[in-house]
Parts: sequence; C-alpha cells; structure tokens
Amino acid sequence: MHDHVQVGTVIPAKPPVGKFALDLAVSTPAVLISNGVGITPMIAMAKAVAIQGSDRPVWFLHGARSGKFHALAEEINTLAQQYPALHVHYRYSRPTPEDAGQYQDTGYLDAALIEASVLPQLEQLTGHRTADYFLCGSPPFMDSLRQGLAALGVPPERIYFESFSKPAAKSVATAAIESEGEAIAVTFARSGKTAAWTPAAGTLLELAEANGIEAPYSCRQGICLTCMCRLDSGEVIYDEPPLGEAEPGTVLVCVGKPQVPVTLDL
Ligand code: FES
Repeated sequence: MHDHVQVGTVIPAKPPVGKFALDLAVSTPAVLISNGVGITPMIAMAKAVAIQGSDRPVWFLHGARSGKFHALAEEINTLAQQYPALHVHYRYSRPTPEDAGQYQDTGYLDAALIEASVLPQLEQLTGHRTADYFLCGSPPFMDSLRQGLAALGVPPERIYFESFSKPAAKSVATAAIESEGEAIAVTFARSGKTAAWTPAAGTLLELAEANGIEAPYSCRQGICLTCMCRLDSGEVIYDEPPLGEAEPGTVLVCVGKPQVPVTLDL
C-alpha cells in the first residue's frame, strides 16, 4: 500500500462481513472494550448506534500506552459530545505530561474497572446490570477481560470478541489425541506434492504450509475468499459453514478439511 497506492488508485474492496457485529435491533446496553488498534470496530459500532438516534447506553472503554498511541481519539470525543448516551473512558498505561486531561486514569483496562465504574452506572441508569460486552484487542488483553467478565458473572453469550491473531498452536497433547485416526491423502496438483492429512494437521491451508506450498490467504477465517482454490477431486468439509461463499467447484482451504482423498489446484 505505502509503495504503490496513490491518489486516484482504485482499490477493489468487498463489503464488511463477519460475526463481530452489534445488533442495532436490540436495545441492551453495550460495553465496547478495546486496546491498541482494536479500537477500529468499536468506532464503527459506536457511530452506528449514534447515527441510529438510539438512546441505547454505550460504554466506550479504550486502553492505550499514551496519547501518541491513541488512534482516532478526536473522532470518538466528537461523537461523545453529540451522543450523550455514549460514556467514554480512556486508560493510559504510560501517559506523558502532554497527555494531561486526555484520559481518565492510568494502568491497563481490566474487569475491575467495569466492576467499579460501569456496573454501578448501568444499575443506576437501567435498574439492572445486564449488558452486551464487545472485546477487541491484543490476545492477552482479551484473555484477561474474558476471564474477568466471567468472574463478574457475565454469561458467555453476552461476551463477543474479535481477535487479530492467528489461532494459537495446538498443544502437543491435543495434537496427539487428534492425530489418532486414518490419514487422508491430499494432492497439491500444481506443486506436484501429496501429503498425508490427519486431524492434527489442521486445515488444508496449514497442511499446505507445513509442506512448503505457498497458498494465498488473508483472514484465515473463511470470510475473505483470498484462499479460494479449485477442488479437482474429492470432498472438503468445514467445521462450521464459512461466512464467505466459495464459487462452485472451489473450496476455502483456510477452514476446509478433507473428507476423502482430495486434489487441490495448489
Ligand atoms: S483466507 Fe480468507 S477465506 Fe480463507
């Protein structure tokens, strides 16, 4: 992008898609919690509620190292002025003197802040403590928040999250259990290689990568279609139906697994 995109460049783009979305049809209070670049989907959610003219209470909690690392602050501050039901709280871990007045407190965002600040406000405003929680940020941040929210009694179905990272590698123990079972031959026709797939190998994309075969990918979640690949023979299954719709005769290797021996155009 930095090297080739200029003013006037046309960039083909797909419409947004995914499971991490705020349902605008419901009025349950929403608590949007992010750190770092995890702020981006939260801004879209906060704006959507504000534009809808809803009086749905929204808490916007964001953690950053300092003002220098705080993206899009002005955008949210302006929105908060126009939309009184938007409650903003910024927590900086290493603020500088220039940041004075731009954040509420210091440290890392955690469930203790929700318990001490959001829950009492929620109760005062709505008479109950029910809210939907949306998390987006670094993996340790999300893990600690999810555990903290669970400890506060928030049911899992009220916690939504989006991770920017690849799924963690399977533990050796899990892989060993999963590897039991018969291997299925996967032929990568263009590369002239055949590999044995077992559940421990993961997805077809992971199998290709493990065998030194370069395959295009982006989201690795069955959404973007970047990994779409022609299936020359065999059958591929998905643990759950992908959000992206592969063209007939093709499969999404990032989430696909072989059901029987398969040949892929890779
Ligand atoms: S990499 Fe995005 S759908 Fe497979």
